[in-house]
Amino acid sequence: MRLLVTGGCGFIGSAYVRLALAEGHEVRVLDKLTYAGRPENIEGTGAELVEGAIEDPAVAGEAMAGCEAVVNFAAESHVDRSIADPEAFARTHVIGTSVLLDAVRERGVARYLQVSTDEVYGSIESGSFDESSPIQPSSPYSATKAAGDLLVSAHVHTYATEAVICRGSNNYGPRQYPEKLIPLMVLNALHGDSLPVYGDGRQVRNWLYMEDFARAIHTVLERGRPGEAYNAGGPDEMENLDVVRRILELTGRDESLIEHVTDRPGHDRRYSLGSEKIRSELGWEARVRFAEGLEQTVSWYRDNESWWEPIRSGDYREYYERQYGRALG
Ligand code: NAD
Ligand code: DAU
Repeated sequence: MRLLVTGGCGFIGSAYVRLALAEGHEVRVLDKLTYAGRPENIEGTGAELVEGAIEDPAVAGEAMAGCEAVVNFAAESHVDRSIADPEAFARTHVIGTSVLLDAVRERGVARYLQVSTDEVYGSIESGSFDESSPIQPSSPYSATKAAGDLLVSAHVHTYATEAVICRGSNNYGPRQYPEKLIPLMVLNALHGDSLPVYGDGRQVRNWLYMEDFARAIHTVLERGRPGEAYNAGGPDEMENLDVVRRILELTGRDESLIEHVTDRPGHDRRYSLGSEKIRSELGWEARVRFAEGLEQTVSWYRDNESWWEPIRSGDYREYYERQYGRALG
């Protein structure tokens, strides 16, 4: 297939680009190159890069020319930024998804996959969400992602668009922008900076190695039933504090670096995603356990300063000061 991958210069999108190319597909990437869009993530892979925004109808339509499928990763992906400034989230997730779906319909593209998140279901105290759980997002990030998902369902229902949705739990791995918990804590620990844990740090996340998510997305693209959503959850649930302690062990630091800071407003306490449907219908299962994936991730950041140094010495410093009220060391 010739695939259009939007947001392919980001963390998970670029892992998916590598997977799709390895499977013999042709890949064109459409990416706005926001702070999180790193062209170096797909450098040398053979993917074609078109710079542009999915919410621009002319750009989106043209980028789809000759493609049999569109895989939409393009997003503003950080919850804290959505709390500080929600507008870009609405533009990309709502207008952008709507523009892509219209272009898919007008151009007769055979297949569309929406990359989505467990956060559309909201927080759950015990048990796990499945695909029939109510959509109850709680942050501007998840509310706008949910709106994107609902637009996909509306296009399936109204125009018989061949679209599918794949919802992942918290991803981690190489090339994740260091605003997210794991890379932020790894880089701070490597530098001996304090580790800012929100609130009591007992929130629970369900960790999924990004290559496992990329494989789930590809499986759903190829074999998912049109109109259906599929959850892809990680194999291990962890409290944030335990994740941070493990990172301290792997980087040879002690717990004195942990600092409890003001909690995130409206912080979802626990996510948990059941993957029974994708497992029984499509045979997908996560392969990488958290202990192994975290070790690989820490090693990658240790060995790839040339990837993160330009980020950590650039705009990220201003973001960090705004978000955490202090300078990076
Ligand atoms: P990321 O922030 O690393 O990358 C997002 C990419 O989208 C960047 O390359 C950025 O430049 C691009 N982009 C942003 N707005 C755009 C626009 N308007 N037009 C074109 N390109 C645009 O994000 P990520 O963590 O790789 O997440 C990718 C997708 O996976 C998102 O849809 C996200 O909601 C979803 N997801 C992420 C996680 C996670 O834990 N990171 C988990 C589940 C689902
Ligand atoms: O669940 C899937 C979602 O996971 C994706 O859809 C989002 O794109 C992705 O950003 C992620 O959202 P989270 O808010 O769960 O991830 P984040 O890495 O920002 O935070 C993980 C947990 O760690 C959360 O409970 C907040 C906490 N945290 C985070 C940061 C950045 C801290 O305690 N301190 C921090 O500095």
